[in-house]
Amino acid sequence: MDEKITELTQEAVSAIDQAETLEQLQAIRVKYLGKKGIITGLLRSLGQVAPEARPRLGQAVNSARATVEQRIEARREQLAAELTQARLERERIDITLPGRVWPRGRLHPLTQTLNDIKAFFMGYGFEVVEGPEVETDYYNFEALNIPKDHPARDMQDTFYLGEDLLLRTQTSPVQIRVMEATKPPVRIIAPGKVYRVDADPTHSPMFQQVEGLLVDKDITFGDLKGILAEFARHLFGKERGVRFRPSYFPFTEPSAEMDISCMMCKGAGCRVCSEEGWIEILGSGMVHPRVLEMVGYDPEEVGGFAFGMGVERIAMLRYGIDDIRLFFDNDLRFLHQF
Ligand code: PHE
Repeated sequence: MDEKITELTQEAVSAIDQAETLEQLQAIRVKYLGKKGIITGLLRSLGQVAPEARPRLGQAVNSARATVEQRIEARREQLAAELTQARLERERIDITLPGRVWPRGRLHPLTQTLNDIKAFFMGYGFEVVEGPEVETDYYNFEALNIPKDHPARDMQDTFYLGEDLLLRTQTSPVQIRVMEATKPPVRIIAPGKVYRVDADPTHSPMFQQVEGLLVDKDITFGDLKGILAEFARHLFGKERGVRFRPSYFPFTEPSAEMDISCMMCKGAGCRVCSEEGWIEILGSGMVHPRVLEMVGYDPEEVGGFAFGMGVERIAMLRYGIDDIRLFFDNDLRFLHQF
């Protein structure tokens, strides 16, 4: 029996040392130490051995059991440590890896330009107002002193929605709406979308304008020139030359277009300014007395000036963009440059 105990112990120990998983180890425990286990069986069989041999053999079996138990426990700890180590290895986080870069949006170049225009005039006390894009013939034309047979009403220029309804071709109708609703003094700018039947590299069927209107007592053409020249220098730099050229708009008299010296050739003449040395950036003029009368203002009492400019055109000049359609393609490679 002594020999058998030694043999069993050795067998168990080598099985324990070879166990690769906790499950295998558990199976070994059951095999030797379980209720029906081999070593447990040995203890039970002690009843059948000679009484004088019993204490010694009992001790031997107990110590075999203790050895196997300790060995299992030692191996269990070892396997558990290995498992933890393997898991840590597997779940290792490399904190030196660069983070994920989320793409970042930015303001559209037209929005940036519009914000700049607004900021300038708000600094002079102009209020920002908006009007409808679907207008009546009256506000878009009639009240602006544009008679029925005026070429601007041509089907080729205007998107008509019906006999009397149209998509506004300019932001000037907002002048009328504001004057109808308020008493002078008036000092507003009105940014917004306008529509014209027109499409080529420098014209889009939809574009944005900013209208300006100032009405008060004792307003002169000098006031118009002063603020608009200052505006040009704000947008295009202090050294920018400015000139006013006589022009015609039905709702202003006198009317003038404002040019700035060409930023490409500095006035020498180039392709961008068509060899002129000057580039037109807005239309303006003193509000026509007929327009004032139609909104119920007294032209003997108050007067004012108005101006209108295209936001796309200004952004194109500012950033040197030669095709208006780039603004509307939403190509990120283009938009990210601003
Ligand atoms: N509404 C004119 C246009 O679209 C611009 C303008 C506005 C001119 C105000 C004079 C005064 O061309």
